[in-house]
Amino acid sequence: MANVIVIGAQWGDEGKGKITDLLSRSADVVVRPQGGVNAGHTIVVQGQTFKLHLIPSGILYPETECVIGSGTVIDPKVLLEELGQLHSLNVSTDNLFISQTAHVTMPYHRLLDQASEQRRGEKKIGTTGRGIGPTYADKSERTGIRVVDLINPKELQEKLEWTINYKNVILEKLYNLAPLDPKVVIEEYIGYAEQLKPYVVDSSLKIYEAIKQKKNILFEGAQGTLLDLDHGTYPYVTSSNPIAGGACVGSGIGPTVVDRVIGVAKAYTTRVGEGPFPTELHGEIGEQLCDRGAEFGTTTGRRRRCGWFDGVIGRYAVRVNGLDCLAITKLDVLDELSEIKICVAYELDGHTCDNFPGNASEFARCTPIYETLPGWQKSTKDCRSLEDLPQEARDYLKFLAELMEVPIAIVSLGASRDQTIIVEDPIHGPKRALLDENGDPLSNKQ
Ligand code: GDP
Ligand code: IMO
Ligand code: MG
Repeated sequence: MANVIVIGAQWGDEGKGKITDLLSRSADVVVRPQGGVNAGHTIVVQGQTFKLHLIPSGILYPETECVIGSGTVIDPKVLLEELGQLHSLNVSTDNLFISQTAHVTMPYHRLLDQASEQRRGEKKIGTTGRGIGPTYADKSERTGIRVVDLINPKELQEKLEWTINYKNVILEKLYNLAPLDPKVVIEEYIGYAEQLKPYVVDSSLKIYEAIKQKKNILFEGAQGTLLDLDHGTYPYVTSSNPIAGGACVGSGIGPTVVDRVIGVAKAYTTRVGEGPFPTELHGEIGEQLCDRGAEFGTTTGRRRRCGWFDGVIGRYAVRVNGLDCLAITKLDVLDELSEIKICVAYELDGHTCDNFPGNASEFARCTPIYETLPGWQKSTKDCRSLEDLPQEARDYLKFLAELMEVPIAIVSLGASRDQTIIVEDPIHGPKRALLDENGDPLSNKQ
């Protein structure tokens, strides 16, 4: 039995969907603890692509129970579309459960998110425009609508009438937008509630019962460490806690039940939206990474900014998540490069800086200090063991593992489930260095 958290170690889109789907094979329950429809997790199985926003990436396994946890924010309309898409592909969702205490994203959240971004002008965050910030803000302000309210028509009517009248003042007076008609919204959302009601449960209790039955539970983080509200590149962050600790809060379980934390990181770095990004590449190589990596947002279609691997934020992710091991994805995207840079530290105001500075203006002034490694200029997409990889690719992985001081348990070389090297058991594997000085797996020598 092992309970494992999968989190993004960078700025999101690291390939958490692919890794979660892969690990779901040995999970009894997969939980999405936080985030909303800002997330876009892609799974590719036998040529078929699934793009999930709220539904956990374990859904393709009919025996695996999938829980949308209490720390998520749920847009019922988008969730129903997602359910419809899965049904049209003959994927059953009888194994889906929705937390009664998750908060609900309403039309005014979306409008306010977009209007506030517009008002910020050049200082915009570059949000997904999905209403995430305003939904979490209402949760903190204690004016949110929860799933329990949504599925209780009387409660919903009372709460929405009051809230929409309140939000209309902001929409009209501050943003010069048309007000919402409470009656229309209430009717629409009562309709959504009827369809979602059968899925609603006490998710914390459900997960606790699974723990007591010694089931394997996988927690699928959304977004990434540097987008964490408390520990990311504030204010250019999302409004939830994507770090490993957030998985406990968002699922309603205690930290003592977590056995392992797996960090997913790309072999380079990407970021969507605004905010500092020290290793960003503006020229030809950045374009090449974007094109080869098909770096366009799963949710918004926006082009992702691309850059070299940043070891400083990598080490930071190890620290704030307590990572046990790494899954390195998209190594294949680097296949054509003649040399590859890795940021090992920053220069900040004339000093070398080894640690991620929490101060946003300092972080914005950091410039990367690089080590350059030779590229391999061979295709890796069909490699299925470390031994199949070119020596330079193994050296690159070894460099990353040493820089971050955690073993690499999984290497991904393509979007498909099978384009993966399992270097060591990511769930039960030992906590130790992975590759020896020649880039060979230690496990092969023992
Ligand atoms: P997530 O949000 O962390 O689940 O990641 P996304 O799904 O938003 O973005 C990752 C993208 O990379 C998706 O299109 C995946 O299909 C794709 N992908 C995942 N792993 C690999 C890989 O190893 N190589 C390549 N070329 N693509 C990958
Ligand atoms: P997954 O789970 C990448 C980014 C947005 C923006 C910031 C705030 O697919 O990795 P928000 O709409 O959350 O208020 O936007 O966070 N962002 C993501 N970037 N992947 C995601 O999710 C993201 N979810 C939000 O681009 O910069
Ligand atoms: Mg994504």
